[in-house]
Amino acid sequence: MPQDKQTNRRIVLASRPHGAPDASNFRLESGHVPTPAAGQLLLRTVYLSLDPYMRGRMSDAPSYVPPVAVNEVMGAGTVAIVEQSQHPDYQPGDWVVSQNGWQDFALSDGRGLFKLSGPVLKHPSWALGVLGMTGFTAYMGLLDIGQPQAGETVVVGAATGAVGSIVGQIAKIKGCHVVGIAGGEEKCRYAEEVLGFDTCLNHHEEGLAERLSRYCPDGIDVYFESTGGKIFDAVLPLMNSKGRIPVCGLIADYNSTAPASGPNKLPLLQSAILRKRLRVQGFIISLDYADRFAEFFNKMSQWVAGDRLVFREDVVDGLDNAPETFIGMLEGKNFGKVIVRVAGDKP
Ligand SMILES: NC(=O)c1ccc[n+]([C@@H]2O[C@H](COP(=O)([O-])OP(=O)(O)OC[C@H]3O[C@@H](n4cnc5c(N)ncnc54)[C@H](OP(=O)(O)O)[C@@H]3O)[C@@H](O)[C@H]2O)c1
Repeated sequence: MPQDKQTNRRIVLASRPHGAPDASNFRLESGHVPTPAAGQLLLRTVYLSLDPYMRGRMSDAPSYVPPVAVNEVMGAGTVAIVEQSQHPDYQPGDWVVSQNGWQDFALSDGRGLFKLSGPVLKHPSWALGVLGMTGFTAYMGLLDIGQPQAGETVVVGAATGAVGSIVGQIAKIKGCHVVGIAGGEEKCRYAEEVLGFDTCLNHHEEGLAERLSRYCPDGIDVYFESTGGKIFDAVLPLMNSKGRIPVCGLIADYNSTAPASGPNKLPLLQSAILRKRLRVQGFIISLDYADRFAEFFNKMSQWVAGDRLVFREDVVDGLDNAPETFIGMLEGKNFGKVIVRVAGDKP
């Protein structure tokens, strides 16, 4: 549907998925563009971030935040342009990071906005990736919880994705031996040749545990957990004593409708944690580290400006393509940080 400045297109949650989401769980609607009252801004979405956590918000299972209500607009981090302002701190044309959700326009009272200025304006969408939520997740999870030391071995799954690609590159900056795990030969080649990982293993090929043990001859000191599933099964026996496991995500399970069948692995896990004195710590970036965003942003901006890090985006045009792109991301179809370009970037 072409964008009409008088129309606010929004994608709402039409129904809750059972297992993998499909197109019927989403509905595209059109409404009026809202008018800002005193103290408010009208924001026009330019870039929309699609992230795996949104699968959790589509479900009404207990979680750390309430779910999206059925018939409500899907929530999301966005980069937006101020279209109209009745707020003293913002002018039309300002760029902000906001939470507009999956829609063209949203009102804001300024709370929670992050105004973009300086070099990031060359790539405003990076404020959703390497300089935004996913880069922040990689930075805090790896450095604060993983605490990698030079010479140690760090393993990370979803290695070419928004979080994993940054985790591995920071680990290289810290002097670690980095083994990535990714879905496919092309992704693995990219991780080795462009991101600079020492090795990347394709988890679609047989024998992951054996290959991982071959490429981690000194065991694993830090496993940055983003996937769970068979990758965790392959990693656990190789963890070294005093190893650290920042638990960031479990994407292999997000579409599961029942616990995995097979033997109960809990005793094995508990025994490994005890005998090897592993530190296993979950974290939610928005809840646990909000007060350290400035520290992250300054450091990451320096690394980006100094070409110490490579960042790849998978940009899809058009709000109406968001559902299909989101569904594909959960299946590993993305190659880099998933961004939907909702509108042109001229104020
Ligand atoms: N705790 C937090 O605050 C926080 C914040 C942000 C993200 N996260 C989590 O971090 C993880 C990565 O997020 P992201 O934004 O960087 O996504 P992403 O890696 O850019 O995209 C998702 C990737 O997950 C991989 N994947 C999907 N199903 C898989 C499976 N069954 N087994 C193994 N890998 C699978 C696919 O990569 P391959 O094709 O390479 O397998 C897919 O491309 C997610 O679990 C997410 O929920 C957590």
